[in-house]
Amino acid sequence: MSDDTAKNILAICGSTRQHSSNHQLIKCIASIFSEQVQINLLHNISTLPHYNPDDDKEKAPEAVTHFRNLVLQSDGILICTPEYAHGVPGSLKNAIDWLVSSSSFSGKPTVLITASTDGKFGHAALLETLKVIEAKQVEQLQLRIPFIQTKIHNNIISDEKTLQEINALMAKFIDIMQ
Ligand SMILES: Cc1cc2nc3c(=O)[nH]c(=O)nc-3n(C[C@H](O)[C@H](O)[C@H](O)COP(=O)(O)O)c2cc1C
Repeated sequence: MSDDTAKNILAICGSTRQHSSNHQLIKCIASIFSEQVQINLLHNISTLPHYNPDDDKEKAPEAVTHFRNLVLQSDGILICTPEYAHGVPGSLKNAIDWLVSSSSFSGKPTVLITASTDGKFGHAALLETLKVIEAKQVEQLQLRIPFIQTKIHNNIISDEKTLQEINALMAKFIDIMQ
């Protein structure tokens, strides 16, 4: 159980699939690091409206305002996502597009984990997006986990190397948020 000084992290899952490996990964990380951080999963990125600059005005749609506030109130962001067709899943990219004009990501320590079959193209594309919207130190806080399907089972990370990489990544993340 985290204490009152624990950092508050918003986790965003790029997969909306019911038995998503990325969702399992977030749950594993939340459980392993529960003493140091409080990880809250953002629910339903797929219910955000499609991004439209015409609606990105003073009064944005309510779901968008809520999402922006969650990002602003967090100490850091944890993104875990698969790659789709060598790109970033549409619902995740859509969610991030809503944050561009509000600069909500600017200066926010952000971890990017792409857990997919391979994932290198989507990972590179999303890393570039996060850099341009000024996510803090994302280049130091990134990890690609290929063949995720063989490395996580029943909410447990079964691959020792992956576990070590996640431990190192989270240690850096917690350090950067201090
Ligand atoms: C429409 C679709 C396209 C995919 N394209 C890729 C791809 O380009 N590269 C890749 O590594 N995996 C691809 N995959 C496989 C996913 O990475 C894999 O199913 C992953 O486990 C999904 O993550 P999730 O378990 O969190 O839903 C694709 C899967 C789907 C459904």
